[in-house]
Parts: sequence; structure tokens; C-alpha cells
Amino acid sequence: MSGSSPVAYAIKDSVAVIRIHNPPVNALSAAVRAGLVEAIGRAEADPDVAGIVITAEGRTFIAGADITEFGKPPVSPSLPEVIETFDATRKPIVAAIGGAALGGGLEVALGCHARVAAPHAKLGLPEVTLGLLPGAGGTQRLPRLIGAVAGLKIIAEGKPVSPAEAKALGLVDELADGDLLQRAKTKARALADSQLRRSRDAANLGPREAFEQEAAALGKAYPDNPSVAACIDSVRAAFDLPFEEGMVRERVHFRHLLEDPRSKALRHVFFAEREAARIPGLPDGISARLVNKAAVIRAGTMGGGIAMCFANAGIPVTVIETGEDALQRGLARVAQTYDISVKRGTLKPEQRDARLKLIEGKVGLQAAADADIIVEAVFEEMGLKKDVFGQLDRIAKPGAVLATNTSYLDVNEIAGATSRPQDVVGMHFFSPANVMRLLEVVRGDKTAPDTLATAVQIAPKLGKVPVAVGVCYGFVGNRMLAARGKQVERLLLEGALPQDIDAAITGFGFRMGPCAMGDLAGLDIGWRIRKATGARAPVADALCEAGRLGQKTGKGCYLYAEGDRTPHPDPEVTSLIERIAAEHGITRRAIGADEIVERLIYPMVNEGARILEEGIAARPGDIDVVWLNGYGWPAWRGGPMFYADQVGLGRIAMRLEEVAAKTGEDSLRPSRLLRRLAAERRGFTSPVIEKSSVGERPLGFRDALKPQETRS
Ligand code: 3HC
Ligand code: NAI
Repeated sequence: MSGSSPVAYAIKDSVAVIRIHNPPVNALSAAVRAGLVEAIGRAEADPDVAGIVITAEGRTFIAGADITEFGKPPVSPSLPEVIETFDATRKPIVAAIGGAALGGGLEVALGCHARVAAPHAKLGLPEVTLGLLPGAGGTQRLPRLIGAVAGLKIIAEGKPVSPAEAKALGLVDELADGDLLQRAKTKARALADSQLRRSRDAANLGPREAFEQEAAALGKAYPDNPSVAACIDSVRAAFDLPFEEGMVRERVHFRHLLEDPRSKALRHVFFAEREAARIPGLPDGISARLVNKAAVIRAGTMGGGIAMCFANAGIPVTVIETGEDALQRGLARVAQTYDISVKRGTLKPEQRDARLKLIEGKVGLQAAADADIIVEAVFEEMGLKKDVFGQLDRIAKPGAVLATNTSYLDVNEIAGATSRPQDVVGMHFFSPANVMRLLEVVRGDKTAPDTLATAVQIAPKLGKVPVAVGVCYGFVGNRMLAARGKQVERLLLEGALPQDIDAAITGFGFRMGPCAMGDLAGLDIGWRIRKATGARAPVADALCEAGRLGQKTGKGCYLYAEGDRTPHPDPEVTSLIERIAAEHGITRRAIGADEIVERLIYPMVNEGARILEEGIAARPGDIDVVWLNGYGWPAWRGGPMFYADQVGLGRIAMRLEEVAAKTGEDSLRPSRLLRRLAAERRGFTSPVIEKSSVGERPLGFRDALKPQETRS
């Protein structure tokens, strides 16, 4: 075997050990597939070899097919062809699974005659999360081996199982506490003299009725999901068709799904999330500061949730309030939230107790003195924030990271209240902070690289997906949300009702429409901001003036029955909207769902383009990650910027021009970047040769996307 092959071959004690080394996760690239076929052939031909072990270097066994190869011309041997060679061999093959065996990785293991797993391994077929189905025999082998019901669940839900669960299911033959390779070799030798059992020949499907019941339940749980439907259809083929024909059925579905825009979107999300964690402009090898202790300022809605994130990560955290009453109220809310998880069965009582023990309540900022990271979550008011940071400057230990959870305010101005702006960064959590996955990490002009690295690197420990953003009003997410909110107002005046708008947006794939969302968060939040900035939103202002603040007052855009969160359309709201439209001289008309979607989404895309031009976000994928994890953008639509590329930027620019002309709203005119890309018939995801309009910024779209020369 050539020295550069990612598959090594060695014989020890009459066992051929085939070792895959393809960092970072041993994905099944073309070279790995070819190496496997060659190695199996060599072992088969060697009379000194009694058995074969397949193992892998590093943290994972095999993470699956190489996702970067999807969409490119296929290179043989294909993975099903590789695994066919396992079936044809006369020598036993044992998989030594020392880490994640996912997707094609588990299919390789299923092609072996036995599987031995280390205790920290995990086994799964996550293809559905990429909008696919297992495409190398998983849908045919797994159900035959462990039963159609258990197999279908693993395939259609995409959740990995632990080695212990896998052992109980019959997916794994042995658990190896000690030397995994040794155990696998022993197993291979033991099988050498016995009749070889191939997973394709196993006959454990179980009763058909039970499978159909499970299939119906999954179909209901995942309606309109083409990959779940394909999983069900393929597993059903295991009952109806011989193995080879079942393989063909699976392959047809796989090829079909590979071309489905929904799968393309989900694959984009996979890579965008990983890319977001790499911050352009951060010097290589910069290390984060050590965080052993945290403090959170104030125990309000956000403060309590943020404290829980630290406790969940095992980091002791002090929650600081101004008075004993507010402190006790905040801590009680935290305990209550944990209790609900215990009641739901998602948290064990002892886990709750351990986490609560890590949260200490204190009155007075002095209690932040020993914290390595301090997250401020006081009321959204600049004067208050500057006062708190001024005090923290005197109290915090040298080198502590001083983070603000502000949703909109200028992080540079907040940093200016301290003598150590290099230690100040924004950490914008989303509500509820213990649940939502997004963390916007706001980089100020003077934020030091290791401060930024600390915020970014602690995010995954807190269960968050970090996205680095620059300073502007509302950063990435809320700035685009505001662009959408402005159009909600316009549509209400032009003829739509809250229920029309929400139905269009939920039809697009969001779980909740903007009007129901406004009622949930409280319409007074925006009202307060508008009053402070002198902005007007005639409908929302009138709702608030009428005491309709949302769910908390029993009415907002909708009406709510006592103790019930179901929004009911309210004729009073219709009259109020009609009255205001008349006052503005607007003749209302019927507006269809498609127009609503265009009118709400395209301005967001336009704002996203401005955010890129200004260098507030480094890459279009970062904006997508923000909307996917913070605002419930449907994953299968890939995020607003990916979606825009699918629609075509030419169409978006044209529609924006039309609406801008009709409404006289200048902010709707396509941004420079959008116009330029549309004219060149390109999308956001292709490299952009664009000079930033605002000079040097810490993060730059053009910095991130090379080449960056300016074109004349
Ligand atoms: N193909 C190509 N690249 C992959 C990959 C894959 N299957 N899985 C991970 N990577 C890359 C990531 O993009 C990342 O690259 P980067 O460092 O350049 O950003 C790097 O490997 C490390 O990945 P993570 O940051 O995710 O590392 P973790 O240690 O956090 O997680 C993991 C490891 C659990 C293996 C996780 O990477 C994972 O879940 N991978 C995807 C698994 C999957 O979906 N497999 C199914 C693929 S489809 C398939 O197999 C089809 C078959 O049925 C024919
Ligand atoms: P909150 O009002 O629940 O609590 C913040 C703290 O401010 C509490 O201690 C409260 O007692 C105190 N407070 C309330 N009114 C005050 C006033 N008029 N003057 C001084 N103190 C007052 O606030 P929340 O929602 O936790 O917000 C805190 C920070 O988090 C703000 O910067 C906000 O913008 C940000 N944020 C809020 C999100 C949300 O959805 N609520 C989401 C993301 C960030």
C-alpha cells in the first residue's frame, strides 16, 4: 500500500488489521474507499490471514460518507461496492469501533461480520438530518439485523445510540472496556472457524404490523419530510423485496434526495455552523482565557437563563442582584425551570441538585471580584449599562472577560465606560437563554483577540452555536428582524391581517409568525424602543396604547383566553387596523400568502446584504446560522441568504425595486452588493469582489472571501 494512502495494512497474530487514518473524522473519501477494497483483497488472498479487523485512528471510528463529495461526479468504488466486497470475503471481518460510527461509518460496520465497541463510542445513521437516507445498505441491513421497528426508529430519527443500547439491540456483539483492538482480533480469530453470519442474511425483521404502526407514527411526527418518507419506504422494501432489490430501492431514493433542494440546504447548514466557529482575522493559535468561575449581573429573564447555561456546563456562577427580594425571585425562577425539566423526565433530580449547587446568589457587584467572565444582563438602557461597567472596571480582577448581553446597544460605548475596553465583548444570548442555541459574539473595535476567542470557545460548552458579529444597532439578528417588522406594519395597513401574515410565515416553515411572536415577547418591548428613538409603527403603537401588550395582558395582535396561549383572531384588531389605514389614506386590498412571504423575506435578505457590505457579518453562512438558531428559520430552507440564492438575486432585486417605487420606501431599494451580484447573475455564496463602503472593519465580508482585490 502506498505511503500516502489513508488506509494502513498490517498483519498481527494472523489477523489483518486495516487502519483508517483520514483526519479529522475518518470520512469515507474516494481514497479511503479504494484503500479498503485493496486491503480486503490483500487479506483475502493471503493464506496467513485468518481474520480481518477494521479500525480507525483518532476520536472517531468513521463519521460517514465524505459530505464534501456530494454533488460532485461520483468516483468509484462507491461505498455500496466497497461493502459488497466484505460480503464476498470468506474471512471474518470485525469492526473495532472506538468512537463515532455514523452514517456510512455504521454501514461499514454493518457490512462486517461482527462489531466490538468501546464504551465511549456512538452509533447512528444521521443521514436524515442532512435530508438524506442511509445510502450504503443501512436501510436493508440494520432492520434485518435488529428488527424493523428498532431499525426504522434509528434510521428515520437520526439519533445515535450508545454502545450499551446497541448491545441490547443486537447491533453490537461485544463491549470492550479494555484493549479494543485486542478484543476485536480475538473475536476475528474466534469467528475464523465458524459459519460467517452476514447482516444481509439476518432474519430478524419482526412482525410486519408492528413495523407499519411505527411507520405510521413516524409519518405523522414528520409530515412532509421526504427523507423520512424515503426511509420508511426503503425499510418496507426489506419485507417485500430480496436484499439486492432493496439496495436498488435505497439507492434510487438516495440519488433523488441528493438533488433535493432541502437536502442541499441542510448540508449548507452543516458546514455553515462549523465555519461560523472559525473567526476571520483571529491570529492562528490564539488561546482563550481560562474560565473557572462566572458571574451574571442581574437575575431577570435573561440573567437567570444565562446562569443556568454556566451551571449546565459545570462552571460555578454567581448571580448578582441589587436587592435580596429580586435575587430570591430570580433564583426561584431558575429552580422552577429545572423542576419542570425534572417533571418532564429530561433531567434527573440529582442533576438538578448538582446544577443548583453551582449557582450562588449575592447582592452587590463586589461579588463579581473573583469571576473570570462576567455577563451583564441588566435592563436595556445605556446609562445603566455604562454605570455597571464603570463599577465592574474597579471590581473585576485583571484579565476577566467583561461581557454584555445587550440586544441593540453600542458595545464600543459600553466598553468606553471602562479603562479596559480590550476585555469587553458582547455575548448576546437569545430568550429563553437556557434553550436557544444562538450566541451572537459582538466584537467591539478594541476587543482583544483572546477576549473574543474566550467568548467563542466557551459557547459550545454552554450549549451554544457562536457567530461573531460587528457592532451596529441590533447586530445581525435583531437588525434583520427590524427590517421584517417594518414590513409587517406596512402589510397590515395595505390589507393583511395578523392571522394572514402568520399563516403565510408558518406556511413558509417558521413555527410561529411575527404577530404571534410579538404577542409572546410583549409588544411593549418595541414600543419602548420606538419611543426612545422617536420611531413610529402606527398599528403596533395603537395596539399598545389600547393596552394590548400581548399574551401578558390577554390581548395583543390576537385575543387570548385566560391561561391559554392559543391566539384567536380578534375583530377589534381588524377594526383598529382598518381605522388606522383609513387615517393614512390607504385603500386596503386582499394580499395573498406568496406576496406576504416576498414582502417580508426579501427586505431581510437586503438587510443581510448590507450587513455583509458593512462587514458586520463575515460570511453569508454566518447570517444563516444566526437565523436558524436564534429565530426559528426552517433548517430545510438553509437560512435567509441561502434561500435568496435559491430564489435568484435577480428576482429579489427586481421585486424590491418594484415595492420601493410603489411605497416610496427608500430602505427597500436593493443594496449595492445585492444589485451587483444580481447583475452578475451570482449568489451570495460565490466569492465577492467588492470594496467595502465603510472602510476597515474588524470583520469583513471581502476579507473572508478571497480573492479580495478590487475590480475596476
Ligand atoms: N464529511 C466531510 N467532513 C466532515 C464529515 C463528513 N461526514 N463529518 C465531519 N466533517 C468535518 C467537519 O466539517 C469539520 O471540518 P472543519 O474542521 O473543516 O470545520 C471537521 O470534520 C470536524 O467536525 P466537527 O466540528 O463536527 O467535529 P466534532 O468532533 O464536533 O464531531 C462528528 C464529530 C460527531 C463526527 C460530527 O462531525 C458529525 O456528526 N459528522 C457528520 C456525521 C454524518 O452526518 N454522517 C453521515 C454522512 S452522510 C452518509 O454517510 C451517507 C451514507 O449513508 C452513504
Ligand atoms: P429583565 O427586565 O427581565 O431584567 C433585567 C434586570 O433589570 C432585573 O434585575 C430587573 O429587576 C431590572 N429592571 C427592570 N426594570 C428596570 C428599570 N426600569 N431600571 C433598572 N432596572 C430594571 O430584562 P431582560 O429581559 O433579562 O433583559 C436584560 C438584558 O438582556 C437587556 O440588555 C436585554 O436587551 C437583553 N436581552 C433580552 C432578551 C429578551 O428576550 N428578554 C433577549 C436577548 C437579550
